[in-house]
Amino acid sequence: MVKQYISSNKDRFLSELFDWLRIPSVSADSRHKSDVRKAAEFLREKLVAAGADNVEICETKGHPIVYGEKIINASLPTVLVYGHYDVQPADPINLWDSPPFEPVVKDDKIYARGSCDDKGQVYMHVKAFEIMMKHNVLPCNVKFMVEGEEEVGSDNLGVFVKENRSKLKADVILISDTALFSMDDPSITVGLRGLSYMEVEVTGPSRDLHSGVYGGAVANPVNVLCSMIASLHDENNRITIPGFYDKVAELSQAERTALNKAPFDLDEYKRELSIDEIKGEKGYTTLERTGVRPTLDVNGIWGGYTGEGAKTVLPSKAHAKISMRLVPNQSSKEITELFTKHFESIAPKYVKVKVTAHHGGEPAVTSTDSQAYRAASKAFEEVWGKPPIPSRDGGSIPIVALFKKELGLDTVLMGFGLDTDAIHSPNEHYGVKNFLLGIETIVSFYKNFVKK
Ligand code: BES
Ligand code: MN
Ligand code: MN
Repeated sequence: MVKQYISSNKDRFLSELFDWLRIPSVSADSRHKSDVRKAAEFLREKLVAAGADNVEICETKGHPIVYGEKIINASLPTVLVYGHYDVQPADPINLWDSPPFEPVVKDDKIYARGSCDDKGQVYMHVKAFEIMMKHNVLPCNVKFMVEGEEEVGSDNLGVFVKENRSKLKADVILISDTALFSMDDPSITVGLRGLSYMEVEVTGPSRDLHSGVYGGAVANPVNVLCSMIASLHDENNRITIPGFYDKVAELSQAERTALNKAPFDLDEYKRELSIDEIKGEKGYTTLERTGVRPTLDVNGIWGGYTGEGAKTVLPSKAHAKISMRLVPNQSSKEITELFTKHFESIAPKYVKVKVTAHHGGEPAVTSTDSQAYRAASKAFEEVWGKPPIPSRDGGSIPIVALFKKELGLDTVLMGFGLDTDAIHSPNEHYGVKNFLLGIETIVSFYKNFVKK
């Protein structure tokens, strides 16, 4: 019945999703403010059409949150579906094979910004809800809360959650915003990393100088910044900030063995990324490096002349954006402080440094011993023919830790993307199969969640 409905409505599902993907809801870019709102309004209409009640656009200090619910019986459990309708900026646009906001299907994949992260995955929930409403099989209450600021740190969602505890009362949070291990090895994410995102500015002389007249005699802030950044890792690729690893929870040997059981093909990994060798913290496998170990990476670096041709200049300033991925039991606030203190302390006398913090978020580990996790596991078994592997993802969804803290709720991270879907990159895509099987898996989750 569900399969049948999905296959006969497949074209409509996709064309609706495409309409949504055409709206460039880039939360980071103020020029797209009205597009972000349009995307929220689009979702509101679709939730209403699918049968949700009390659907509203909740204003925040930033982009709005879309809320909707279907309460069929107050004594039944409630699933709170969270997701985000905002997307990352599309640039560099010239690296896209087709325009980012003109979705197309190629090789059975939907190409568009937001196709996987996260509009495509949110839309599976809207369609799963439509199916359950149409067939009168929604087995419990459901609430939707879909925000427009996930890609910029979810600051206002935090406020909304704190102010709306009773409205958001639920038994479990359900999120599709993560990746499967592979199409042959479905997985449920049970851990996400946290984040501390910093920006640094290094200032040398008070103005740009002629690099011939002054070069060799005055410190070049770009050179200095590069050495400072290089010193943040040692020869074993461990981060040198004092205290950085103090609170890192080490896995037991049994936990490490379990984590490394997941099928992982290093040659395929390298081939897909066009790299000849991998690099990471000594003593850990790739799965451990991305799943349970903290990192420090430069996300962007600039300064001096970057225009066409050559200009001989010794720049006055250099800048970098540096992020650290965190694991239990590191705290974003503490790591931000440690970084700031350390970075200031390693600045040589011939420059001044300014360190500022952007957003952060706490790491999260979710329970595998719950009715909801078992329901998700069963759903994968039914639809994908295999029990899912619990996996630790390297990305961050800061609100998961906040849900636990503020609402006391556990989350099930039932995502259907693939690491190779190029989220945040040019040519982001999402498998049509993932989209359709995802809808089916979600419907099956509800059935198994409420079944005694
Ligand atoms: N959906 C991603 C997070 C993700 C991706 C988790 C893949 C697991 C696997 C989310 O939209 C995201 O990009 N989060 C940001 C953090 C945020 C604070 C900007 C991230 O991880 O960089
Ligand atoms: Mn996302
Ligand atoms: Mn994202």
